[in-house]
Amino acid sequence: MMTWVMPVYAGSDVEHAKYLVESRKVAQAFMQTLGGALKNQLAGGAESAIGVCKQIAPALAAEYSQNGRTVKRVSLKVCNTVQGTPDAWEKTVLENFDAEQQQGKSAAEMEVTKVTSTADGRAFCYMKAIPAQPMCLQCHGQSADISAGVKALLSKEYPLDQAVGYRAGQIRGAISISYRLADEAPNNLAVTQ
Ligand code: HEC
Repeated sequence: MMTWVMPVYAGSDVEHAKYLVESRKVAQAFMQTLGGALKNQLAGGAESAIGVCKQIAPALAAEYSQNGRTVKRVSLKVCNTVQGTPDAWEKTVLENFDAEQQQGKSAAEMEVTKVTSTADGRAFCYMKAIPAQPMCLQCHGQSADISAGVKALLSKEYPLDQAVGYRAGQIRGAISISYRLADEAPNNLAVTQ
């Protein structure tokens, strides 16, 4: 009788749970850091806070994207069309989040995961809904919520901005995290006999 130690491969429940826990932590840390910076900056006026979104958000995303992990924010109505446009799966998830919210589900609880094959190999993907808070409406709200100065600056910096018209509580977008995974277990491994 021979016994191999069973390696843990992505796709197994253990590995899946590990990446889920990790994704939740990263999402929370990212959103807290960004939210804190935004709040500080908004104290000096929404116009000056546009810089936070323009510089800090992509810089933070880059900082959190390391060791095979990618972190970004996506939305069905983007401000930054380059960084914020969802891929096909992300778009479907965002549409489902909106549909679920209309059925009364709380946005705070919305998250999904998948394990998928990509051109670069297998990946674990995680998305979590981002609800709009009242402070977000200064840039993403109804026309009456947004000052003339902010409107002018947004249309100058983001001429394609669609991320307006939100009300507090609506889903503004999602944080989307993915991990590149080790290859699938070859058939001759992971056996105890
Ligand atoms: C001061 C204006 C301002 C405020 C307030 C603001 N945002 Fe933004 N938001 C922006 C700008 C500008 C971008 C584009 C940033 C970039 O270039 O990546 C952006 C991008 C985003 C994105 C990425 C997707 C996209 O549309 O490009 C999300 C999600 C988002 N904001 C959510 C929020 C949430 C949630 C809040 C409140 C907690 C908030 N924003 C508050 C200006 C603002």
